[in-house]
Amino acid sequence: MTMKDIVKKRLLITGVSGLLGNNLAYCLKNTYDILGLYNAHGVEIEGIKTRKIELTSETAVEKIIEEFDPDIIIHCAAISDVDFCEDHQDLAQQVNVSGTRFLVNQALKNGAKFVYISTDLLYGDSPKNPLPEDFPVHPTNYYALTKYQGEREAARVPEALILRTNLFGWNIQNKFSLAEWVIHELSAGKRIQGFQDTYFSSIYTFELARIIDQAIEKDLKGIYNCGSSTFMSKNEFARRIADYFQLNKSCIQAISIDQAHLKAPRRKNLGLDVRKMEAALGRAFPTLEESIEKFYDDYQKGIPGIIKQNNFRKIFPVLDHIPYGRQSIMQEDIQAVVDVLKSNYLTQGPKIPEFENGLRDITTARHCVAVNSATSALHIACLAADIGPGDEVITTPITFVASANCIVYCGGKPVFADIDARTYNISTQEIEKKITERTKAVIPVHFAGQSCDMDAIRDMIRVKERAYGHRIYLIEDACHALGSFYKNTRVGSCAYSDMTTLSFHPVKHITTGEGGAVLTNDKGVWRKLCYLRSHGITSDPEEFVHKDTAFEPAQEKGEVPVKRPWYYEQTYLGFNYRITDMQCALGSSQLKKLDQFRQRRREIVNAYNEAFARTDGLTIPYEADAGDSNFHLYVLLFDFENMELNRTQLMLKLREYGVYSQVHYIPVYTQPFYQKTFATRWGDCPEAEHYYHRCLSLPLYSSMTDDDVGQVITAIRKLARMRSRV
Ligand SMILES: Cc1ncc(COP(=O)(O)O)c(C=O)c1O
Repeated sequence: MTMKDIVKKRLLITGVSGLLGNNLAYCLKNTYDILGLYNAHGVEIEGIKTRKIELTSETAVEKIIEEFDPDIIIHCAAISDVDFCEDHQDLAQQVNVSGTRFLVNQALKNGAKFVYISTDLLYGDSPKNPLPEDFPVHPTNYYALTKYQGEREAARVPEALILRTNLFGWNIQNKFSLAEWVIHELSAGKRIQGFQDTYFSSIYTFELARIIDQAIEKDLKGIYNCGSSTFMSKNEFARRIADYFQLNKSCIQAISIDQAHLKAPRRKNLGLDVRKMEAALGRAFPTLEESIEKFYDDYQKGIPGIIKQNNFRKIFPVLDHIPYGRQSIMQEDIQAVVDVLKSNYLTQGPKIPEFENGLRDITTARHCVAVNSATSALHIACLAADIGPGDEVITTPITFVASANCIVYCGGKPVFADIDARTYNISTQEIEKKITERTKAVIPVHFAGQSCDMDAIRDMIRVKERAYGHRIYLIEDACHALGSFYKNTRVGSCAYSDMTTLSFHPVKHITTGEGGAVLTNDKGVWRKLCYLRSHGITSDPEEFVHKDTAFEPAQEKGEVPVKRPWYYEQTYLGFNYRITDMQCALGSSQLKKLDQFRQRRREIVNAYNEAFARTDGLTIPYEADAGDSNFHLYVLLFDFENMELNRTQLMLKLREYGVYSQVHYIPVYTQPFYQKTFATRWGDCPEAEHYYHRCLSLPLYSSMTDDDVGQVITAIRKLARMRSRV
């Protein structure tokens, strides 16, 4: 192997600030030593050199080629706006034809391979589609003419490769490819028109880049069509893009290109017959559908963010938004799930007790029953507390409806006690006011992660129990609070309650997709919960009621009776609330990172607090001394009455910055179901309503980057302007 083999070949790419030039540089930068040339739009691309050039100056071209001495030139630069070329024919001629001539002159001088990127617009109009390379050329507009003249220049290099193509992809500049334009307009809620009588076989740039790389390697020469192997109408293309990106297809109006009255004449059948190049390279090209799929796949992998160098969110705020909450999944989480998929048990296997033990260890509760959601957890907790018709159960109005629905599932009546104005948690004094002789349980919710004042609630309940002479259960809804502390105990320890419920929905601290759990220190309660989780069934011989049918009759005196292997008993009316082993494996893997997640959330909260603490009209979350919150939510209160924007306007404006927010919560008793069923009314809990009108949850999740946090802060600061007072 000589030094020349080891040293990378030098590749000169013109038009490196354009879609293909840039994407080629990105794809080929590890294979070649690249110099990218641009004209009007300066670009810097990691791993390659870039320089400005005036292609219309032969001396400038000569100087660069002499200095860089390329082995290969890929000439992508051109003025490609068809209507602009029609209006600016001299300029089009200079850049597209003379520029090519100057490059070709130099390529001939230094012996570089020349690759010329041409267009699908060259062929004459034809009812036939797709068209092969030997179909007569008949440029129908000035752009096509200059590209054809460029081809003639390129063909002066004996080994030149000329590619007639049409492409779409992720552009480095704000200039959009057709696919990007469709996404941009539809995601901004705009209507667009799709030509239903113009057919093309556009190819995704990264696919095209790979084909070009292969063609160079195989030293292909001559003229080739190079596009997707199938074609579709531009209207259909727009619709497929909308499908992939889940955008509103009904905003695409199908029209004829004739109705668009474009300046430059256009051909309608632009399909490319690519079989010649497929045969030359010995590979199939992607269909247009596959090209779109690859374009979408790369979006999902974050390629446009890299190509657009951090401008992606600014350009497509709807596509790349910062949600108010989301999961943080890492490779080890994925592996844990995959391992279960390869194992013997997908459900009712060993991963469930493993996860339950992990939750017990963290919270110090004695028993744990993992189920398929916190809603199920709350339901069986209420059943285990014997809540039934005629019973009243007190909970907070500022919670997700599930905290109250579980009471109704059991036939009980939810009673809403107002919140504390500072913590937004249920107020102990308000609970006290609502307790009657019918009160069977209280369900405090540790809102946003901050524990309720459990000591005070428990003491007050004990007094009431004595007064009414019956037990009042305390069930903590800790769906927001896994990992939080209250007076040096972890929330979930059940040190102050009978049961605690958890949620593993993706916005929570750890996730199992969907999932929940009930923790308790009471063995009897735990046994009941186990029954309720799985149809009310048991296979434990100790628990059997019908011993006579459970065992084989003893043949001899003193013989230990043998349990019938198939036998089980249903003792209660239970449910199928089981969680799977895949979910629990994910949960156990996530649980290992609970404190790391907690810490990152705290860092973000500190940044928000610092940014908003002294801003007029904003109230940051209050933290009571007795607890240490894990901050499931970051709720900021806004003085909307004195702000320029109302909450709807603020939320929609925030979305333009890519920042998604949410309201937690609409007071539960104002929901139509509760008003209808329990005659609750607006005005029932004034503090909750005052809070509701002012709250907004900002994005908060452990995988938020510092840039994300900065973006939220900037957007809020910009938008939370107060009305000027006269
Ligand atoms: C306070 C509270 N309780 C209960 C639930 C229900 O949880 P899941 O979605 O796991 O059923 C939620 C869900 O967001 C919640 O926030």
